[in-house]
Amino acid sequence: MSKETSYDIKDIRLAEAGRKRIEWAEREMPVLRLIREKFNSEKPLLNTKIVACAHVTSETANLVRALQSGGAETVLIASNPLSTQDDVAAALVKEWGVSVYAIKGESTETYNRHVRNALNFAPQIIIDDGSDVVATLIKERRDLIPAIIGSTEETTTGIVRLHSMERAGVLTFPSIAVNDAQTKHFFDNRYGTGQSTLDGIIRATNILLAGRTVVVLGYGWCGKGVAMRARGMGANIVVTEVNPIKAVEAVMDGFRVLPIAAASSLGDIFITVTGNRHVIDEQHFELMKDGAIVCNSGHFDLELNLDALRQMSAPPVNLRPFVEEYTLNERKNRVIVLGEGRLINLAAAEGHPASVMDMSFANQALSVEYLINMKGTLAPGVHTLPQEVDTEIASLKLRSFGMDIDVLTAEQTEYLSSWEMGT
Ligand SMILES: NC(=O)c1ccc[n+]([C@@H]2O[C@H](COP(=O)([O-])OP(=O)(O)OC[C@H]3O[C@@H](n4cnc5c(N)ncnc54)[C@H](O)[C@@H]3O)[C@@H](O)[C@H]2O)c1
Repeated sequence: MSKETSYDIKDIRLAEAGRKRIEWAEREMPVLRLIREKFNSEKPLLNTKIVACAHVTSETANLVRALQSGGAETVLIASNPLSTQDDVAAALVKEWGVSVYAIKGESTETYNRHVRNALNFAPQIIIDDGSDVVATLIKERRDLIPAIIGSTEETTTGIVRLHSMERAGVLTFPSIAVNDAQTKHFFDNRYGTGQSTLDGIIRATNILLAGRTVVVLGYGWCGKGVAMRARGMGANIVVTEVNPIKAVEAVMDGFRVLPIAAASSLGDIFITVTGNRHVIDEQHFELMKDGAIVCNSGHFDLELNLDALRQMSAPPVNLRPFVEEYTLNERKNRVIVLGEGRLINLAAAEGHPASVMDMSFANQALSVEYLINMKGTLAPGVHTLPQEVDTEIASLKLRSFGMDIDVLTAEQTEYLSSWEMGT
């Protein structure tokens, strides 16, 4: 840690534990490690000022190490008040000299103050997760926009917001939609969220999933993963959707599909992964069984209307870490909310396993390099990384598994590019 490293973290004495966990995660991140080594010798990010807003986890720490090896100066802030691993934050400050502003359990005010502090650093590149930094930049700090080379966005919700900024004509720099890379959402959203969401629920409650009815709200990439994994543990799955195509997919995947109004009285556990607002609302809480468990794994906590729940119940009672029980005023039924409605996989567990974040963060690191290489040539708006980059990340991942696949023969390549050959 240099004298100038500024930070706002829980406790610098946690650094040793954090370093060990960062190094443990690194073992499962071979693709990012290769990128870090390449960055170290080529220094493609030299003197670039980056603000990274991400879940402050051991995997994110390895992304920051890669950026640092490339020559960038990075400030790291949390992308969610409950997702920070305080020991990782301490290790990044102490062992790697990174300025970190993130404390697990920070208030919304502190979270917003950290976003503003980070912008004071006058970044050239923003790595965002949920688009709070870019939105604050546009709303409050337009003076900083001329220096911005571009931004990258990690998650589905952030990309929805970026498209909305694009339509409103306020996104005046290029932004790379990292989530849209296949090596991101096929794996991170599906297998990462699928496993880690159940991990969060189980760590918080120690509940048995076998035989329970689990209602999965939203059958997108995350919802598919959650439903698949919960079924694997013996739960009966009910899916709710608003998109008929996704609903048909859920039906053909073998799940029961119902409107939330009908599912409300059936579920033992409810998991929201829609990226949408108030998908569980007052009238749904009212119908739930006594002791129903409700949690969210979508980006923002507003998927659950917790304000309504607070108004219709006695003050919540904390039963265990991340477990709060609300008793409804009228029916006296109890509704149990996990992790304050924040992403349950990060609030009560450790987020996605490093092996999937390896590909997500390979995409992030290569997106930053791409923005620098393409500086001044990309139009303002939302972009995806070139397909070759996606394919290369998958090839490196396969190689790290020690697996080979076939390559097209010349005859097959010719066949696939020709319309003339039929039967
Ligand atoms: N927990 C994590 O670590 C993690 C990881 C990746 C993404 N996310 C977040 O999870 C959310 C979902 O991401 P995704 O990639 O699956 O998105 P997606 O767009 O693939 O899927 C969302 C699905 O929700 C459905 N939906 C929208 N409103 C609904 C409603 N009222 N009722 C039922 N279904 C509804 C949509 O039709 C869509 O099929 C986003 O907020 C994303 O940012 C969280």
